[in-house]
Amino acid sequence: MPKRYELPPLPYAYNALEPYISEEIMRLHHDKHHLSYVNGANAALEKLEKYRKGEMQIDVRAVLRDLSFHFNGHMLHSIFWPNMAPQGKGGGQPGGYLADYIARDFGSFDAFKKEFSDTAKTVEGVGWAVLYYDSLNDQLLVLGVEKHNLMHAANLSVLLALDVWEHAYYLQYKNDRASYVDNWWNVVNWDDVEARLRKALGK
Ligand SMILES: [Fe+2]
Repeated sequence: MPKRYELPPLPYAYNALEPYISEEIMRLHHDKHHLSYVNGANAALEKLEKYRKGEMQIDVRAVLRDLSFHFNGHMLHSIFWPNMAPQGKGGGQPGGYLADYIARDFGSFDAFKKEFSDTAKTVEGVGWAVLYYDSLNDQLLVLGVEKHNLMHAANLSVLLALDVWEHAYYLQYKNDRASYVDNWWNVVNWDDVEARLRKALGK
């Protein structure tokens, strides 16, 4: 029997990211939206389980598309929450390996920040900006992700993810995605991003 995915708790209080991200957004985003991806992935697994036993006819392509969509939604949100930290712990600039890699691969922190922000602001429709570690070339890459998976690159380690679905900002920022992106830098948890890079590097 396939294992089921579970909603991880937020690593801080719902209001911990205020004033940059409101408690109302965090409650809905975590408790409703993220949960729906967990449930969607598990529903796809259940259909596959019945299909494997011959108990159910399914459209395999549609079910696998559902599984990919919901699984990636679950995975990206599970990284997005610890990628952020309350005021005083988040924001500023990274140190460690991350600072060295950013300086080497983007030229400067400001150049990286601009590229990541521009990516987030210009994702078409809904999606994510993601900082990856590419082990093939030992380098960092920023990519835009449409929805949760279109344009997603295989075998890259997600280090930092920014959710630019409307559910992530609309209640507070309305259609001003750019202000949400600019304010989000105040809550980035660089220690978490550095830990993900060290894990990818095997350090
Ligand atoms: Fe989201």
